Amino acid sequence: MTAGKLIIPSTLRAAANLRSSSMPKEVAKKAAAMLSSAPSGGKHTLPDLPYDYNAIEPVVSAETMTIHHSKHHNTYVTNLNVTLEKLDAAVSAGDVSTIIGLEGALKFNGGGHINHTLFWENLCSKDESEITDGPLKAAIEESFGSVDAMKKDLSAKSIAVQGSGWGWLGLNTQTGKIEVATCANQDPLEATTGLKPLLGIDVWEHAYYVDYRNVRPEYVNAVFDVVNWKTVEERLVAAK
Ligand SMILES: [Fe+2]
Repeated sequence: MTAGKLIIPSTLRAAANLRSSSMPKEVAKKAAAMLSSAPSGGKHTLPDLPYDYNAIEPVVSAETMTIHHSKHHNTYVTNLNVTLEKLDAAVSAGDVSTIIGLEGALKFNGGGHINHTLFWENLCSKDESEITDGPLKAAIEESFGSVDAMKKDLSAKSIAVQGSGWGWLGLNTQTGKIEVATCANQDPLEATTGLKPLLGIDVWEHAYYVDYRNVRPEYVNAVFDVVNWKTVEERLVAAK
């Protein structure tokens, strides 16, 4: 995530220096963490895709990729920056009530930005999608028994998400095992479950409706053909 200057350092200082009588310590700490979520306290921007909009066809059409990236993801980025500006003002004013009131917007738009940034990196053309022998395959086999068993589990749970949400493969750093998890809406995996995100499948209708209408199982099963397993492996190695 790239960043320009938006949030002034004095705000962070203000958040850190607020007296406990005017703002509970935990709220001050959380607000400072939220404000510093943009690198150098800057403004978040829409990342470029690492491939063309038509690179994932025919599994996901260029039309879907264009709308999904340039409209949906862009909206999360825009609204995240608006929310951070409001948070900036609320922290400066020591307005605890407003800070707490912004948590929902921050989770939704911040989560939307984090999740989609991971998602684009998860995908590649059909020709490049391959699980080769290495640490990822070994960890999948240790955790699920086989690659097919992992796909079956992740697919079933992603399809079963009620309403909008995400299916995930995440690393449990306590056990060293890879687990399947699902999150509602745009709730980000790590902040919600503690698992380190390795692979996310967006099961919001905006991710598949143009190509698959309402048939989510067809989309989820097809997406496995365009997963960039190299990226998944890099995340696993980095998370360990
Ligand atoms: Fe999405």
